[in-house]
Amino acid sequence: MTKVDKTKRFSEVFLFLLLSCTFQGTHCELVLSPTGHTVVNAEVGRNVTLAVSFSGATDPVVAWFMKDVPVITWTFGSSPIIDGKKTNVLRLEPNGSLTFVNVSLEFSSNYTFEITKAGLKQVSTTFTLNVFEIIQNVTLRSEPDLVIEGTDRFMLEYSMSQGVVQQQTWFYNGREIQTNSNNSKDKSLVILRPTRSDTGQYSVFLTNPFGSVTTYMNVTVLYGPEDPKIQARPAQPFYVSGDSLLLSCLGEGSPKPSIEWIFGGQNISRSAILNLTNVKTGQGGDYTCMLLNELTKNQSQISFTLDVYERPSENPLCSVQSVNNNVDLQYHCQWSGGTPQARLFFPELDNSKSGLGNLSLTVNASENLDGRTFMCLTEHPIEKNKCNITASSPLKFLPTVQTTVNFAGKIVVSIHCVSEASPSAVVLWSRGSEAVTNGTTHQISSDTTQLQIRDYNVSNFLLQNYTCTCKNPLGGQRREIQLRGPSISNSNLFPNQDGTILTLTWEVPPYSVVTGFDIQMKGPDLQSKNRYDAQSKGKSNGFQTIQWKPGSARSADIFDLNPKLTYRFQVIPKALRTDGEPSEVHRIGPGNTNTNRFNSS
Ligand SMILES: *[C@@H]1O[C@H](CO)[C@@H](O)[C@H](O)[C@H]1NC(C)=O
Ligand SMILES: *[C@@H]1O[C@H](CO)[C@@H](O)[C@H](O)[C@H]1NC(C)=O
Ligand SMILES: *[C@@H]1O[C@H](CO)[C@@H](O)[C@H](O)[C@H]1NC(C)=O
Ligand SMILES: *[C@@H]1O[C@H](CO)[C@@H](O)[C@H](O)[C@H]1NC(C)=O
Ligand SMILES: *[C@@H]1O[C@H](CO)[C@@H](O)[C@H](O)[C@H]1NC(C)=O
Ligand SMILES: *[C@@H]1O[C@H](CO)[C@@H](O)[C@H](O)[C@H]1NC(C)=O
Ligand SMILES: *[C@@H]1O[C@H](CO)[C@@H](O)[C@H](O)[C@H]1NC(C)=O
Ligand SMILES: *[C@@H]1O[C@H](CO)[C@@H](O)[C@H](O)[C@H]1NC(C)=O
Ligand SMILES: *[C@@H]1O[C@H](CO)[C@@H](O)[C@H](O)[C@H]1NC(C)=O
Ligand SMILES: *[C@@H]1O[C@H](CO)[C@@H](O)[C@H](O)[C@H]1NC(C)=O
Ligand SMILES: *[C@@H]1O[C@H](CO)[C@@H](O)[C@H](O)[C@H]1NC(C)=O
Ligand SMILES: *[C@@H]1O[C@H](CO)[C@@H](O)[C@H](O)[C@H]1NC(C)=O
Repeated sequence: MTKVDKTKRFSEVFLFLLLSCTFQGTHCELVLSPTGHTVVNAEVGRNVTLAVSFSGATDPVVAWFMKDVPVITWTFGSSPIIDGKKTNVLRLEPNGSLTFVNVSLEFSSNYTFEITKAGLKQVSTTFTLNVFEIIQNVTLRSEPDLVIEGTDRFMLEYSMSQGVVQQQTWFYNGREIQTNSNNSKDKSLVILRPTRSDTGQYSVFLTNPFGSVTTYMNVTVLYGPEDPKIQARPAQPFYVSGDSLLLSCLGEGSPKPSIEWIFGGQNISRSAILNLTNVKTGQGGDYTCMLLNELTKNQSQISFTLDVYERPSENPLCSVQSVNNNVDLQYHCQWSGGTPQARLFFPELDNSKSGLGNLSLTVNASENLDGRTFMCLTEHPIEKNKCNITASSPLKFLPTVQTTVNFAGKIVVSIHCVSEASPSAVVLWSRGSEAVTNGTTHQISSDTTQLQIRDYNVSNFLLQNYTCTCKNPLGGQRREIQLRGPSISNSNLFPNQDGTILTLTWEVPPYSVVTGFDIQMKGPDLQSKNRYDAQSKGKSNGFQTIQWKPGSARSADIFDLNPKLTYRFQVIPKALRTDGEPSEVHRIGPGNTNTNRFNSS
């Protein structure tokens, strides 16, 4: 209030009301000059006078109207009659002017001054009194509080603790906004269909003749989240277990959207960049980024599929086996493990079939498959690989025979028929013309390659020939085994340099059933080093058993020989108590050194 120019505080307007008469006639009339209404501005609480002045006319009747209601009537010479409710404020000056003491807002109005003189034409003039209050404490608010892009409208409205506004002007970023009845009503400004470009500083400039106030408000038009994106760095079609990468989630919005990463139904991070180091296959999958405008609660989301791959740990394996009673071949390819599973093909076998981690193809065995190599192609995103497999019919083979004695004292003959084949061959056994069945005398190993025959009596082994047939789907090989009694095919004697030690060696024909050997000597007694305590046994033809060797032995050492004496040696093959034909007799002694060619019987 104190800032208001003091010259304005007390407003007076002078009007001259002239009573002019024509001097030459009797005709007079009242003249008010200037005519028309006059505008008076006043600050609340001040004194203001609507001033009129007249002279010449005597005893006129004077009246003041507030709008159309008389508030003062006065006949010259008498006391003025003032509207009872307004006597505190209204005062009629002696010269007819109307003074408002301590004027208040409700006195803003039009006032008409009317002067009447009997016989003369009534004259009047009108004042407009505007009472103003200083504008104070203006605030701006928006309706609604949050201005969101795409909504119908928002409104800015000012309010103040006091004041009378004569004029309001709205500004956006310092530029005046053209207002009209459509966007501005009373104390407000309306913005229709706000967009983000309506964000900025708004202000309203309020004025009256006694002051002006500018009030500012920053308005942010909220939008988003929109245009969400996920970027992976480095960008790759897939990642290998152990790789590291960054996933960034981006999205536009005001305010900047908040971020929530969701993986496997769990919230895993609220930072815009997801730092994935040393990823494992279990971390592969869909990563969803939820963007949220914290103010508008609008949401948007985007997902990224992370592929984390791992090579199978081993190398691919190819194999072939026989199926359907040894009739068909099943080719097999396997490269298991890894993420994802490798895709497997046997392109030359059947291009239309593939497997994941595992592939089996069954085909009819036919001759053209024998010895043919098939390649299995194995495709994994990290590595392509392959393996080869060749099926082949059983190759020619030689059966082997081993003889042992079991705990029950039975001779056990094991015949092995092993033929190289792919898939490995199944062995069928027969004795004479009869198939051998698994039982107590004959026992076939679970892989069928070995037949064990058990008997006390060696002659029983020799009654029938055995045959083994090795078969796979591509063919078979058949062998006949004629077991023989204990026998020795070839033998030799090797003395040492000075003739005190010698080594006897011998061989056994294949398929001969032998459980041990008696080493026999004829000649002077030896020292005990030859370690056979049954020296008294086996004396025949003057030969004496000096050592016993097991069926697997093919040599014997004889010690403490006297080089000056003559000895004779022979080896007797044995099947338990059954003796076979003795070996030839080897002689050693003076006259016949270093040779066994000159042996004698
Ligand atoms: C207004 O008029 C009243 C009565 O004459 C007087 O007492 C008062 O001081 C005046 N006020 C001002 C501000 O001039
Ligand atoms: C009428 O009287 C008032 C108060 O006395 C005064 O302020 C004003 O100047 C007068 N008007 C004229 C025209 O003399
Ligand atoms: C002026 O009028 C107001 C009410 O209109 C009143 O409260 C105030 O006391 C008055 N002031 C004087 C000085 O009379
Ligand atoms: C005063 O009169 C003018 C012109 O006749 C009119 O426009 C205005 O509204 C009136 N003011 C009041 C407060 O009645
Ligand atoms: C106007 O605002 C000022 C400061 O904020 C405060 O002290 C004063 O009381 C307010 N006036 C009214 C009439 O509310
Ligand atoms: C107000 O809006 C109506 C309807 O849109 C239009 O016809 C009119 O011209 C507008 N008035 C102004 C002053 O712009
Ligand atoms: C409003 O925005 C203007 C211009 O951008 C800035 O200078 C001012 O500090 C802001 N005011 C508020 C209260 O944020
Ligand atoms: C996970 O995030 C979503 C989206 O931001 C949210 O709605 C949910 O409440 C969060 N859950 C937990 C357990 O924090
Ligand atoms: C990611 O995390 C690893 C290990 O915690 C850290 O060494 C690396 O600097 C991080 N990278 C970024 C871009 O934050
Ligand atoms: C598989 O056999 C093909 C020809 O048949 C040969 O080129 C390739 O080197 C073999 N691969 C392997 C792993 O033995
Ligand atoms: C024969 O019998 C033995 C013992 O009962 C068994 O271990 C073996 O697997 C059988 N052989 C075959 C080919 O069935
Ligand atoms: C066993 O086979 C041989 C030779 O093939 C043959 O001479 C012999 O007669 C056969 N023995 C038996 C008992 O069939």
